[in-house]
Amino acid sequence: MAKKALITGITGQDGYHLAELLNKKGYEVFGIIRGQHNPKRITVEREQPFVKLIEGDLTDPSSLIRAVELAQPDEVYNLAAISHVGHSFKVPQLVADVTGKGVLNMLEAIRLSGRADQIRFYQASTSEMFGGLDYNRPGLGYDEEAVFHPRSPYGVAKLYAHWITKNYRESYNMHASCGILFNHEGERRGLEFVTRKITNAVARIHLGKQDHIELGNLDAKRDWGYAGDYVEGMWRMLQQDEPGDYVLGTGETHSIEEFLTEAFKAVGIDDWKPYVKQNPAFMRPAEVDILLGNPAKAETVLGWKRTVDFPGLVKLMVENDIKIESESSK
Ligand code: NAP
Ligand code: GDD
Repeated sequence: MAKKALITGITGQDGYHLAELLNKKGYEVFGIIRGQHNPKRITVEREQPFVKLIEGDLTDPSSLIRAVELAQPDEVYNLAAISHVGHSFKVPQLVADVTGKGVLNMLEAIRLSGRADQIRFYQASTSEMFGGLDYNRPGLGYDEEAVFHPRSPYGVAKLYAHWITKNYRESYNMHASCGILFNHEGERRGLEFVTRKITNAVARIHLGKQDHIELGNLDAKRDWGYAGDYVEGMWRMLQQDEPGDYVLGTGETHSIEEFLTEAFKAVGIDDWKPYVKQNPAFMRPAEVDILLGNPAKAETVLGWKRTVDFPGLVKLMVENDIKIESESSK
């Protein structure tokens, strides 16, 4: 019989890639979708008709209990969150409720289902929990043992989610794993994140639809990988006999300036500076200066390895945005 997976955050970037992967592996895929008028419902229905949508919200425990009852899942992937770090400074309490406490609601729905011993749980933890401040590991990168020091309401909420997942593993013997994922991007990345904002602007500048882009801090460094590679790692974590925590990253870090250089190079522009203006509105009250992941454990234990490198990622995203923008009249 086909395995069943329940995905929260089905309308997000990772939800899309994970649903594709699990469908290819023969899973029956259920996805929790929120809101009465969610415009992304039609996108999922058209692009991924194999996904069985269940209405629910991480802040509504009864909806999660109902979703677990309906799907009877073997695996639950909790990808839902308010995931934008800058936005989390504007709505910190909502972020605590959704990104933090919402995970407790999902864990309780599983614990009380009567099938907790048959359900494997994945929590979308994040490199934002490290915060970059205590970065003293040149060349090594953050691994599963590194110190956490979150620098945003988002990072703090995710740290609660991380620890409550570990607590349910230890307290109730649940097969609950946390993937501590460094930034991952791709064709499905939201336009509010810096990589996609840049590749979309580069495409529009190339096509004469826009003349500049406004950004915040250009000095920050991130470990950027491809989302399609990272969902494979999530799945591998839940196939292990024992639950655990795993870092997924590339082992490389690049600045926003390097991303700009690579993206503009893809459309034949050598000097990006005339096209970029700095706007303080995009600065954050506290910044994570540098993130670099050490995925040695995932590579050894899970046999996971990223397949897309930094230049490959930027090229793929710019080409995708040129295609989308060429087909749109606005
Ligand atoms: P994303 O594109 O922002 O997707 C977030 C998803 O969460 C959307 O489907 C959204 O639904 C859903 N959601 C938001 N509030 C909800 C609520 N109250 N109830 C139910 N669903 C809700 O994020 P992503 O990039 O795919 O990331 C997936 C997960 O991994 C997130 O938890 C993120 O924090 C974490 N993560 C991401 C990265 C990365 O680099 N991408 C790295 C580390 C960790 P709507 O469409 O209705 O808004
Ligand atoms: N979004 C955005 N927009 N970021 C900008 C901009 C801008 O105009 N200008 C500069 N930046 C800088 C941010 O200050 C930050 O240092 C860096 O670009 C990356 O910002 P984001 O792309 O928003 O990603 P993030 O690193 O803050 O968070 C992402 O990765 C985390 C994992 O480390 C998100 O996907 C989180 O959900 C995820 O947990």
